[in-house]
Amino acid sequence: MSIYRTYAVPRAAAEVARVLAEHPMADAVVDQVDGRRIRVGNQWLFDFASCNYLGLDLDPEVQAGVPAYLARWGTHPSWARGIASPALYPRVEATVSELLGVADVLAFPTLTHTHNGVLPALAGEGTLLVDIRGHQTLHDAAVIARARGATVRRFRSGDLEQVERLLRASTPPRVVCMDGVNSMTGNPPDLPAFAALAREHDAMLYVDDAHGFGVIGERGGYDPSPYGRRGNGIVRWFGESYDRVVLTAGFSKAYSSLLAFVAVPSELKEYLKVMVPTYLYGGPVPVASLATTLLGLDINERRGDELRAQLYHRTRTVLDHLDKLGVATSNVSGLPLIELALADPEDLDLVGRHLFDRGIYVTLAPYPVIPRDEVGFRIQLTAANTVEQVDHLLTVLGEVDDRFGFRRPHP
Ligand SMILES: Cc1ncc(COP(=O)(O)O)c(C=O)c1O
Repeated sequence: MSIYRTYAVPRAAAEVARVLAEHPMADAVVDQVDGRRIRVGNQWLFDFASCNYLGLDLDPEVQAGVPAYLARWGTHPSWARGIASPALYPRVEATVSELLGVADVLAFPTLTHTHNGVLPALAGEGTLLVDIRGHQTLHDAAVIARARGATVRRFRSGDLEQVERLLRASTPPRVVCMDGVNSMTGNPPDLPAFAALAREHDAMLYVDDAHGFGVIGERGGYDPSPYGRRGNGIVRWFGESYDRVVLTAGFSKAYSSLLAFVAVPSELKEYLKVMVPTYLYGGPVPVASLATTLLGLDINERRGDELRAQLYHRTRTVLDHLDKLGVATSNVSGLPLIELALADPEDLDLVGRHLFDRGIYVTLAPYPVIPRDEVGFRIQLTAANTVEQVDHLLTVLGEVDDRFGFRRPHP
């Protein structure tokens, strides 16, 4: 029997496999980058699929700053963190602690590493409740937590009553985990309500704010945009405290760097160092990535709010246009992730083809990545998208609406 029969794609993933294999706007190889334009084969496209929200991947100051770090530290500190860390690591951790206003921070290479290590360590042989619409990496980490003895339950997104019922029936330690700014809808959860519930039931609320960190932050006084100031994440944006709230986020989106962190009280940090295999045995990130993180954090303090205001205005332009067209989007937050559903899910291939041919690159969302009635695509804005690029996007969205039709809001 052929080995490929052993590894046949399961039926549930068949549609995703087909899109990846056949559609030009999936699994693409980018041959050239010019600002927020990309070339795929012979086609130049405006990139609305990038998570580089602040545009720091293209920032001349970041790019010029990296070589000095390489000259001083080499390219890669190839110790596991449990053995040794270059002083750049504690510098990042101290800077992020100050930015967030938390006691301490522990950095990991990615959010996947963070969840896989930290969630099982926090849940122990107790209970882990996972938001059903939470990011896939949270669900994967829950599988590891279950293997280590935790009871895992899933809850309907935003359903506080269900979470309360599950908490009442659970054994400690209890952890409730969910996305901060949701990676598809662009909306934040009701964080204050979930935090209050966690405190009431002696649980911990574990929040993955991959898409909020660097974009939203503390509010009050003069805010240059509804995103708030300093980009210090969803907890500060809500004016919440870190009491029983564990914030995780990565630098791979707004900061264009490979690194992630969990924010915790100092004694918990010492516990995690011992209990999380990634820390003890896993490798570090390259020096260039620690450098772009530190350079990005510095730029964030000096001109981050300016970049966020630009990002907000680009996003608002698209949302207002969709409003005028009468098109439904789940985005009620004004944050730079805009999910659009097609009137007919069967049109996905043709719509994707039209966007590609008209020079617009977005993230296609086929079933079962999302429910069948939400099939469509996601647009992401960054501060590096130009006004001309956004104008062209609006024109092409109008064409798609005329030719195929987006889903309308429910009456
Ligand atoms: C909400 C969320 N969590 C986690 C991840 C995974 O991040 P990483 O690449 O740092 O593992 C992503 C990446 O897309 C994400 O959107």
